[in-house]
Amino acid sequence: MGPTNHSFAIPRAAEYIALLEHRLPPRIVLHALSVANYMASLSELVDIPYERAVTAGLLHDLKKGIRTEALLREAEACGLDISPTQRKNPKLLHGPVAAEACRRELGVTDDAVYEAIYWHTTGRPGLRPTGLALYFADYAEPLRDRPEAAHAREICRTEGFFRALYFVTFQKVQYIRTRDSVDPISEEFFVWIGRELVSRGHLSDQERVMGLSR
Ligand SMILES: [Fe+2]
Ligand SMILES: [Fe+2]
Repeated sequence: MGPTNHSFAIPRAAEYIALLEHRLPPRIVLHALSVANYMASLSELVDIPYERAVTAGLLHDLKKGIRTEALLREAEACGLDISPTQRKNPKLLHGPVAAEACRRELGVTDDAVYEAIYWHTTGRPGLRPTGLALYFADYAEPLRDRPEAAHAREICRTEGFFRALYFVTFQKVQYIRTRDSVDPISEEFFVWIGRELVSRGHLSDQERVMGLSR
């Protein structure tokens, strides 16, 4: 089966995929399908239900590619708390606005799906397993062609999900520090997940500080 030809054993898969194809450019549809497929493969490893993993993967970028003014308007209409960084860089709102759309338009009632989609770009301290898996899969899914994505998948296979998650978080934070509008919550997530993974025995303190070698 190729990367564009996945089938998902969840009741609403066909409806969701038709919606993606209707609303999003083909490149983002392929990415969403690939994230969902990768989430399906992670669901046992991370111990999250298959349907939850696939739903979060399919729908996470439902609001990607919408113009910034429209995103801001939608966020305001939903009553979302818009941070100064999100006002400066409204693209950061595509996750929160998609989470609201899943709940309001599609009637997706699973709070874990809402949380995962809401925070998929930045993470946040206390993020639960579906959110951690989506944050990881969004960066590392097999259609991502940067070498770091392939390396993240390799770490996941050989050293486990949590070490691979830390590799991705470290890479993302190094990258966003070079940009002008950094969401402080990305840094807060990085600090939280590092400490959490040391305390759970997945990382040494030195690895937390220096990152995992490549
Ligand atoms: Fe996204
Ligand atoms: Fe994405």
